[in-house]
Amino acid sequence: MRVDTSIRMGRLDLQTPLLTGSGTFGYGDEFRSLVDYSRFGGVVTKSISLEPRPGNPPPRICETSAGGIINSIGLANLGVDGFIAGKAGVLPVDETKLFVSVVGDSVEEFVAVVERLEGVAGISGYELNVSCPNVRRGGLDLGGDRDAVAAVVSEVRSVTGRFMSVKLTPHYAVIGPVAEAAVRAGADAFTLTNTLSGMVVDAESRKPLLGNVTGGYSGPPLKPVALAKVWQAAQVVDVPIWASGGIINGIDGIEFMLAGASGLQLGSVLFADYDAPVRILEEMIEYCVRHGVDRLSDLIGRLEV
Ligand SMILES: Cc1cc2nc3c(=O)[nH]c(=O)nc-3n(C[C@H](O)[C@H](O)[C@H](O)COP(=O)(O)O)c2cc1C
Repeated sequence: MRVDTSIRMGRLDLQTPLLTGSGTFGYGDEFRSLVDYSRFGGVVTKSISLEPRPGNPPPRICETSAGGIINSIGLANLGVDGFIAGKAGVLPVDETKLFVSVVGDSVEEFVAVVERLEGVAGISGYELNVSCPNVRRGGLDLGGDRDAVAAVVSEVRSVTGRFMSVKLTPHYAVIGPVAEAAVRAGADAFTLTNTLSGMVVDAESRKPLLGNVTGGYSGPPLKPVALAKVWQAAQVVDVPIWASGGIINGIDGIEFMLAGASGLQLGSVLFADYDAPVRILEEMIEYCVRHGVDRLSDLIGRLEV
């Protein structure tokens, strides 16, 4: 039995729903000698800001006793001009769909970054990161405000016709109002979700384990939170949803699709298995064969509640 793994997302066709999540796979070119990008649905780059950012003081990443990992990278990145100069020519745009994650401290900064990226050929779209817990401004404070999110989306929409997903924080108790406001402002999709704000403490030294004290919590413990956000958003908006949160195997991916996701972003799992998009797709195909499902897309939103 042949399973059709292609996914339609608005005006984009992805050959599989599995993408690499922002900040967990570099800028997209670094793994060229290790993986076959043509077997990935897409790659989302590290978040790019207007100016280069050095990020937070180390240590910046560690495991937690509760499972999962916590990071406070702090959006270290080349800045948009450095990205264009150093990476535009080597991105895997011929092999897969490339999405650039964009971050800013203000509406104007988001717009300025996207305006510059409009000149780079081959980019399939943007992911607006309005939800990073590791930065003082432009992260959770911006992403927590429905009107601020809508303002970023509508201003960026005015400078690009490219596909645009908005990556939201898991910290909303109710995600519907912000999702509806973002769609009205021109969002094509959502990424649900970014990391949860968290911290880890070493009782022996009486010190926090991260240089920034707090960080973003990710991996399997985030999955139930992200599942709920995907499901809640799917009840109120009719745009594609990219799931992000604790996906480590094919059954995780199937669960998110049943809850309403059409794309699946892999993050923490890539630190242990950089070829996870290929492995997880095979595991999802195996589920489909077992259940007589011809097309992966037939599973989207088919949760029986
Ligand atoms: C080390 C690390 C760096 C990250 N950097 C970014 C980033 O720059 N921009 C962003 O939107 N998300 C970033 N994230 C969040 C991931 O893209 C993803 O949304 C999150 O880790 C949840 O997925 P997971 O549980 O599969 O890891 C980062 C996550 C990790 C672990």
